[in-house]
Amino acid sequence: MATAPFFSLPHSIKHLSDSGALSSVPPHYACRDPDAPSDVDPTLEGQIPTIDLSVLTEGDPARRSEMVRQLGLACEEWGFFVVVNHGVPETVREAMFAAAQGFFDLEEEEKAEHSGKHVMDPIRYGTSFNTKVEDVGYWRDYLKMVVHPAFHSPAKPLGFGEVLGQYAACTRVVGMELLRGIWESLELDEGYMNNALGLDACFQVCTVNLYPPCPQPELATGLPPHSDHGLLTLLRQNGVDGLQVKHGSKWVHVKPPPNSFLVNTGDHMEIVTNGRYKSVLHRAVINGRSTRMSIATVVAPSPDTVVEPVAQLVSSERPAMYRGVRYREYLEHQQGNKLWEKSALDLLRVQ
Ligand code: OGA
Ligand code: NI
Repeated sequence: MATAPFFSLPHSIKHLSDSGALSSVPPHYACRDPDAPSDVDPTLEGQIPTIDLSVLTEGDPARRSEMVRQLGLACEEWGFFVVVNHGVPETVREAMFAAAQGFFDLEEEEKAEHSGKHVMDPIRYGTSFNTKVEDVGYWRDYLKMVVHPAFHSPAKPLGFGEVLGQYAACTRVVGMELLRGIWESLELDEGYMNNALGLDACFQVCTVNLYPPCPQPELATGLPPHSDHGLLTLLRQNGVDGLQVKHGSKWVHVKPPPNSFLVNTGDHMEIVTNGRYKSVLHRAVINGRSTRMSIATVVAPSPDTVVEPVAQLVSSERPAMYRGVRYREYLEHQQGNKLWEKSALDLLRVQ
């Protein structure tokens, strides 16, 4: 059972962890049963689909259509895939991780400029997911920045904005290229989809997740099972594993190949495709030894778009499964409530 915090919440897990005095987690963070049998299936790991982006962008037509088919299958069967040959320079990725570390290393007072914000504020620093509504804490600090259509960045550390701008632009290109292939896999017209979802003014948010080492990783968790808002999430990590995705009734521990992006489908992909490509449940586990950092970039419809199932994927045999809702309103609801499985999307299901 969740326990209300009897101590005041820390400013950050990093602060708590850096103090070095912890030999156990405060009860507020103990949300897992350490004796529960493992729900992870190690045999599934080798079956995670891989998409070669270079084949989508410059491959000959036959190879491209085969890759589009594989992309469609990956979305339909997994909602998760690894992207290689994505063209994002390693230097951009390294610089982004260094800049993010630089932000978390600032004094708590400096970071506090961005904490306690409303969920729709474009720059937000905090801990757990949403401490205002949660009755358990997650072993995670975060920095979220809206980077498109308007670009927002903290002023400190020096140079952060330039690095973030490059990272955001590169990942947006990858996201758009994948979306092109995904529309094609469903025989949807790219121009029509760009227009329907307002993708020229697409909403893009970069979240840096910091998971410090935990004295009892079997009791606490980094992020609970959830799906993401938006169309696609592109994730990179600092070399320390922790992402798990749900496949069927089991969880898969993801060990990404070097220099790859981990991509998952989001709730708005499920809505627009009328449930053909569902958003995937995933969670972040923590460990007792190393700090894990991940950067999740969500590519989403423009904030004012009313997202609903596209007419082409609605028929009398398959009526619309979701109500349309403005993206901005969905986001506010999803971020303002507890993070749990598909609770935000479930509210839009037509019974
Ligand atoms: C997220 C997320 C997973 C991870 O930021 O939404 O699911 O591995 N992150 O950090
Ligand atoms: Ni997520």
